[in-house]
This record gives sequence, structure tokens and C-alpha cells, in this order.
Amino acid sequence: MLVVGGAGYIGGTTSQIFSKGGHQVTVFDNLSTGHRRNIAGLTFVQGDILKPDDLTELFADQDFDIVLHFAAKIRVDESVTEPKTYLVNNTFGALNVIDAAALAGVKNFVFSSSAAVYGEPAHIPVTENSPTQPINPYGTSKRMTEMILEEYGRSKDLNWVALRYFNAAGAYQSIGPDYPFTTHLIPSAISALLAGKTLQVFGTDYDTPDGSCVRDYVHVADLAGAHLKAAELMLSGTKLQTAFNLGSGQGSSVLEIISAIEKAAGQKVSFEAAPRRAGDPARLLADASQAKERLGWTPTKSLDDIVSDTLAWKRGQIA
Ligand code: UFG
Repeated sequence: MLVVGGAGYIGGTTSQIFSKGGHQVTVFDNLSTGHRRNIAGLTFVQGDILKPDDLTELFADQDFDIVLHFAAKIRVDESVTEPKTYLVNNTFGALNVIDAAALAGVKNFVFSSSAAVYGEPAHIPVTENSPTQPINPYGTSKRMTEMILEEYGRSKDLNWVALRYFNAAGAYQSIGPDYPFTTHLIPSAISALLAGKTLQVFGTDYDTPDGSCVRDYVHVADLAGAHLKAAELMLSGTKLQTAFNLGSGQGSSVLEIISAIEKAAGQKVSFEAAPRRAGDPARLLADASQAKERLGWTPTKSLDDIVSDTLAWKRGQIA
């Protein structure tokens, strides 16, 4: 199998878990944000999804029964200031991979999508039938890729699945959310704690039980597990050609996350109330019953696991 963007946080975790499960994994990555250490022991081809020749060579050299596509830019805020970068990398880049795979005769394709395709959902929990109305170029880039897959499903009979992650979190062994800019809550709060800095809580006046935003955090190893379930079903001949929400269905507020980190670290997190961040919905929660029914997937890791694994990973990085 081919894992595009397999040197990153979610792609790397998934590649290692697939390899452990006995799959022969080839990782293709440009290492712009991924790391060689995440792909230890795996076959690696360095290349770029925006260079069609790199893809032609890759698919000419090896046969793949399934492609998992993770390579993408992931910062929602950056996507607003640099829409073209996101549409080119995430949508056009994905189209290059999908088309090269289809041309090479690959029948199965797993796409790393996002809850960002829903924008600000009117109803919680969000089902896969909720309207897709992205509110930023990041979400649009993911939704457009899903639409491309729908077309390749219709015209080339490609068996595809789009896995819409809610808040990916946690760490797996030495693989964690290791980006030059950390904007996500859990790594930011842990960094603040370890560096003796103050975390800003963006909005404490939302219509939620404690006034801070509620999100659905799902462990990266559980996300990898969902890819494994989907891939194994597809490889055994099950047609999916649809999207699945991947979340726990459990909501945690920003203040609850802070408490969970304090409990795991045995130390207080210094935080202060700050204005709301633009584009943040008050609550985002997945209805992941489809993934349970059709993929046989349910998350196995708790919020405490997510927090303690991230804390251990961050401490390991500093050590
Ligand atoms: N938050 C803070 N302080 C921080 C960082 C975050 O209070 O320093 C708050 C945010 O305002 C938000 C919550 O913590 O209420 C979670 O924020 P994250 O940045 O960790 O995650 P988001 O919910 O904004 O983003 C997630 C995914 C994106 C996806 C988006 C929309 O990480 O990939 O949901 O679906 F696009």
C-alpha cells in the first residue's frame, strides 16, 4: 500500500500501525512538515504531489493495492490568508495523486478529510448527511477533494472513502503533533505548562456549560485504527464510496481540557480569558454511528489517554 504524506503526524502514526498489522507500506512524502524519524523501518520515496513526474515514477516503479492520502496543509488560519496555497496543495495535489493512482489501476483510495467540511453546523451532533458548507479555504480544499473522489468513483469505479476527522489529538510512541507552529489546544496548553507561559482561552462567553468551546477530541491511534478498518474492508472487496465522521461523540470544553492536563501533569496550567477566535463554532461533536456500523470502528482511547500521551511525548521532545 502507498501512504502519501506518511511522514507526518496522522500519516506517520497510521503507517506504523499498518506496518505492525503486517501490511507492506511505502511512504511518499516531500518532508516539508513530516519527519524521517516517523517512518523508521518503512520503505520511503521522497517526492512531491505537485510534481506529476514524481508520481508517474512512483506508480511505474511499484504496484499498490490501495492508496492512503494524508499530504496536506493543515492550518485553518493560514488558509484564510493564503487560499491559493491550500487549494493548490490540498485539492490540486490530491487530484494529481487520485489521477495517478487511477491511471495506474489502483482500485482503492482512502482520503484524510476533516470536520471542517461542515463549517458551522446548525445541528449537533453532526452526521455525514449534515450540509457541507465550509467556512474557510482549508475546509473547501477538503470538500473539493471529496467531490473529486465522487467523480472518480462514478467515472473510473474507484472505491474511495473520506474519513472526516474531528479534533485529532494525542501522540503515538515518538510521533506527535510536531509542527513549526502549534495552534491546536492540547499541544499549546502543554507547551505553555512546560515553558511556564500563560495559555489564552479564546472565548469564555459561549453558550456552553462553562462558557468555553466544546470539541470532540479523538486519539491519533484511534484515527489510524479507523483507516485500518476501512482499508481492510475495501481490500476484501467492500465498496464504500462514502464519507465517515471520526470522533468520539464526547464533548470536552477548553476548561475541561485544561483540568485534564493539570491532572495528568500534577501541575497548574496558567491561563487567561482572551477574546473569541474568528470562525470558532461554540460546539462541534461527531455522530460517528456510521463508522461504528459500517467500519466496525469505535474509539478506544479516553481524553485522559490523549492528554497523558501528548504530555509524555512533549516531555520526551524536551528531554
Ligand atoms: N483554543 C484556545 N486556546 C489556544 C488554542 C485553542 O482557547 O491556544 C481553543 C479554540 O478556540 C477552540 C478549541 O480550543 O475552541 C480547539 O481549538 P483547536 O485549534 O485545537 O482546534 P479547532 O477545533 O479549531 O480545529 C479543528 C481541527 C481543524 C479543523 C477544525 C474545524 O484541528 O483541522 O477543527 O473542523 F479544521
